[in-house]
Amino acid sequence: MDQDRAKKISEIENRINKEIENLRLDVKASTDIKSLELLKSKYLGKKSCLLSIRKSIGSLDSEIKPVAGKMTNALKQEIDKIISEKEIEIGELEREREMAEEALDLTLPGRKPRKGSISIISRVTEEIEKIFIGMGFEIAGGPEVETDYYNFEALNTPRDHPARSLHDTMFINDNVLLRTQTSPVQIRYMEQNKPPIAIIVPGKVYRKDYDVSHTPMFTQIEGLVVDRGINFGNLKWTLETFVREIFGNERKVRFRPHYFPFTEPSAEVDVSCKNCNGKGCRVCSWKGWLEILGAGMVDPELYKFVNYDPEEVSGFAFGLGIERICMLKYGIDDLRLFFENDLRFIKQF
Ligand code: PHE
Repeated sequence: MDQDRAKKISEIENRINKEIENLRLDVKASTDIKSLELLKSKYLGKKSCLLSIRKSIGSLDSEIKPVAGKMTNALKQEIDKIISEKEIEIGELEREREMAEEALDLTLPGRKPRKGSISIISRVTEEIEKIFIGMGFEIAGGPEVETDYYNFEALNTPRDHPARSLHDTMFINDNVLLRTQTSPVQIRYMEQNKPPIAIIVPGKVYRKDYDVSHTPMFTQIEGLVVDRGINFGNLKWTLETFVREIFGNERKVRFRPHYFPFTEPSAEVDVSCKNCNGKGCRVCSWKGWLEILGAGMVDPELYKFVNYDPEEVSGFAFGLGIERICMLKYGIDDLRLFFENDLRFIKQF
């Protein structure tokens, strides 16, 4: 009987040893956590040898039951130990691999972030604003989608007026358009305010035009001064002071008689070309001069639209093209460059 028990025990012992040997081989062959998980279910799961030994204990002789029980418990512990040791080993290897992959070469030069910058048009606009604010002007604004009334009619330019054809207007319908000039803000501002007035109005304007000196959208600054006793001398001083401030004392300025429906008398103001110093080049169309603004005394006709008394007040107005001023200031020879977003151009400023 004793022999029988000893045989049973050694049978179980053999199975256990065999199982551990198999596990060691399997574990050795496994290289990642996933395959280790499979081994866990193979050696501890429902179809495992461990479980089948445990199940068989019930039918054993009560004398050897406790011995067999201890042996299976020891087997369970041994399996756990072998697997968890391997788990730690794999974990360490994987961490090492990750660290090797993420390794930083601290001697490499860094990558510089690409920085945006304020557009040249905005910068020059601000510069111009500062000059006029210094002379006592305030900044005003108005809509880019404008009515025919403000863009033309109230600026003394009725529908049959020949000056309309000069504007290449983009109409939205019969009465609504994209403003062709910042001048409509003159009317809008005078409707809402009484003299004395001294404003500038920066903003986008639109015309159907496209060549080296024209783009369908460009930027203007309107100026308007209305008060008692304003005269052409005030206009001339204001614009000459402005030109000196923005371009320096070397640039020459000239006033040429001109026509605008809403100013009388009117003038165009030219500045000597910086690119060729007045000799003539592509930038100035070989004239030596570049036109930068239109100006004149406010035509008294306009005061009727805004209920001002032309006997009481007088004023002057001007409108300048910001891109033109940028071209002159920086010697740029094509207006279209401002809107083509070529980084080689933009980065220079
Ligand atoms: N609005 C005119 C233009 O765009 C410029 C201008 C403004 C002329 C004010 C006189 C007075 O051409």
